[in-house]
Amino acid sequence: MTPPDTQQYEILVVGTGLAGLTVALHLAEAGRQVTMLAKRSVTEGSSYYAQGGIAAAIGTADSFKDHIDDTLDAGAGLCSPTTVDFIVRNAPEGVDWLIGQGVDFSRIHDQGESFHLTREGGHSHRRVLHSEDATGRVIEQTLADSANRHPRIRVLEHQLAIDLIASSRVEPASQNRCLGVYALNLETGIVEALPARCVVLASGGAGKAYLYTSNPDTATGDGIAMAWRAGCRVANMEFIQFHPTCLYHPQAKTFLISEAVRGEGGRLLLPDGSRFMTRHDERAELAPRDIVARAIDYEMKKHGIDSVFLDISHKPDTFIEQHFPNILSACLKYGYDMRTQPIPTVPAAHYTCGGVVTDIRGRSDLPGLYAIGECASTGMHGANRLASNSLLECLVLGKSAAGDIDGNLDGWLEYGNSLPAWDESRVSDPDEQIVVSHNWDELRRFMWDYVGIVRTTKRLRRAHHRIKLLSDEIRDFYSNFRINNDLIELRNLVLVSDLIVQCALARQESRGLHYTLDFPGKISENSKDTVLVPMNFVGRQLDPNWSYS
Ligand code: SIN
Repeated sequence: MTPPDTQQYEILVVGTGLAGLTVALHLAEAGRQVTMLAKRSVTEGSSYYAQGGIAAAIGTADSFKDHIDDTLDAGAGLCSPTTVDFIVRNAPEGVDWLIGQGVDFSRIHDQGESFHLTREGGHSHRRVLHSEDATGRVIEQTLADSANRHPRIRVLEHQLAIDLIASSRVEPASQNRCLGVYALNLETGIVEALPARCVVLASGGAGKAYLYTSNPDTATGDGIAMAWRAGCRVANMEFIQFHPTCLYHPQAKTFLISEAVRGEGGRLLLPDGSRFMTRHDERAELAPRDIVARAIDYEMKKHGIDSVFLDISHKPDTFIEQHFPNILSACLKYGYDMRTQPIPTVPAAHYTCGGVVTDIRGRSDLPGLYAIGECASTGMHGANRLASNSLLECLVLGKSAAGDIDGNLDGWLEYGNSLPAWDESRVSDPDEQIVVSHNWDELRRFMWDYVGIVRTTKRLRRAHHRIKLLSDEIRDFYSNFRINNDLIELRNLVLVSDLIVQCALARQESRGLHYTLDFPGKISENSKDTVLVPMNFVGRQLDPNWSYS
């Protein structure tokens, strides 16, 4: 991959989901040149598969305060109130920007065309803007079209970022900053050093660390792993959100059934047709996701069943067809008609609440490196993300990061084309590719079994031991063989899994999405809206013996 007209990329954005596209479009509008790297096609990533929508307090009975309170409540004391306040208050503006880009949200035709707001777990009001049940797809296609048409944005597909290039690697005495990225061109197999004045990680989460996930294959934690290797702090990785309802079918392991189905009246049932959520929480099916996922896990284990069932067949056929056309047609493909029968569902890994530590401008610990979206830990989600707050975070912080980059870029030096080339002089072609795929399977299975919805210290230690063995094998592979897509992604997933387990072992309490049988209570139950337990920082520059307790 040769930069066509410059030796230097002005701004490199790694990832082309909602976070990446938002920051790129704002920067391009400000007159900046942006290059985006997509590791598959431009739209392939978790944003595309988001069904529910974007939370914004625009309903007449709603308020910023209620949206803030619901977010803090779900986050179980670990949100940053400043971040939450900033994002919630900027939500309507973010939504207006999307509408200006051409995104079509569902409306109520007999009520003066006002937006239809759906309801999701943990929200005290109807608050979620959506495009039927395919919000992510509509947004991705609209913004990707804008980016592809924009004269100052270049999208390079099938480019897998491998590692960040920090100046400490090039000039050890200089003040450390990010100078660019090594990326593997998946079409040619060549690794290039891409110099940039600023790098933005918008590369998504790490759901693929788990056997069952709603995430697409791209969710391998690349940005989190790259930032960690470059010395940035990573926080709150123990808070992996399990979505309560993915379709249970041997061929549909990753198909999500939107929370909006429960929001619009869907009920969770046991195989005998009885409801069970009322026994677990007074909000029943509309309790926050951690509670619903844990309740399902409990009932499945108690009854020895492979799935529970989600039933919305009591609603009129036309209602289901209008609100959930895509879910309906996907379920029909697998032989289930949600208009007439309950559909089998199970929880699956869905969202990485922790990530690279940033502020509300998206700045990471490494000057010149930003992180936004699911790969970042901004304090918005705390110990548990409220449904439909993630697309919102991408929108608001994508804009604020763009403003900060634009305001500072002229002061940042160009490094030119003199970055060290990728060194392949001592490697050969891999002789046993099968080892990589076996390691993938092993990792995802033990993460599911030992680091899932319900944890124990013993299971976490077991996972830690297996991760150590895998890390040694991967290091050996990485140093001796020519790299490829699977090896890079596995290397990242193993590292991110290690961070998840380290954070989980360090948190000796149950809070939000982290539930351990060995420490079933919170350290303090008294306050829901204050950060009582510091964020669980795990960072290279910190004392390895550091502990928050
Ligand atoms: C869903 O539609 O249930 C997913 C929305 C989200 O994860 O925020």
